Amino acid sequence: MTASRRPLIAGNWKMNGLSADGVALATAIADKLKGAGDVSFEMLVCPPFTLISRVADAISGSGIKLGAQDCHTAEKGAHTADISAAMLKDLGCDYVIVGHSERRTDHGETNELVHAKAEAALSAGLDVVICIGETEAERDAGKTLDVNGAQIAGSVPGHAKAANTVIAYEPVWAIGTGRTPTNDEVQEVHAYIRAELAKKVGESEAGAMRILYGGSMKPTNATDLIALADVDGGLIGGASLQADDFWGIGESC
Ligand code: PGA
Repeated sequence: MTASRRPLIAGNWKMNGLSADGVALATAIADKLKGAGDVSFEMLVCPPFTLISRVADAISGSGIKLGAQDCHTAEKGAHTADISAAMLKDLGCDYVIVGHSERRTDHGETNELVHAKAEAALSAGLDVVICIGETEAERDAGKTLDVNGAQIAGSVPGHAKAANTVIAYEPVWAIGTGRTPTNDEVQEVHAYIRAELAKKVGESEAGAMRILYGGSMKPTNATDLIALADVDGGLIGGASLQADDFWGIGESC
């Protein structure tokens, strides 16, 4: 964390939540933020598509940002069941996550596709959270930096700015497992990502761009992770489904 980059605490609800619990969770987080007054961090919730509209109402006026978990590359057209970035913007979304490892694995998303989705999101006026991260096999093979470097080179648009783009480093093997890299390992990868970003978007944008850590972040490890020089917040799955845990991670900023 560095004073010049405002930490972002982002909740990725994944495929969780029906109307009642989704609204209750969003309302509980909004109440905490309203009760806290001015905070040093920015908060973002990314519910499933089905809850976006209801969550938008529940967090209205709270200052919490709203995001989706994916978008299509095209503005509109014959793409059954897909959702465009313009549709998300129309629903009140501020952000969209692209390239989450579960999309890369479950739907075969490549760096090229993630890049196109990021372009579509930026064109629609959304901010984008671009996810990258190595698998356990890649880490064991000593390829962590190479894999993340290639994902930055392939997934991030060259005209991305710190004002509209966030990177989330999520080691695939740390997602939902309770395991995390050591703090030194996290900082090493984040510093490397920032250096690779500089090649892509220039030194000054890379220096201002937020790089989140994701993968089993919880209130008990968030303080140490977010204190690392190149970690600017978190992308949180499991712990974002409990208002107290999610808020606790925010408080650790
Ligand atoms: P987790 O998920 O916090 O449950 O590990 C993080 C993510 O996939 O974004």
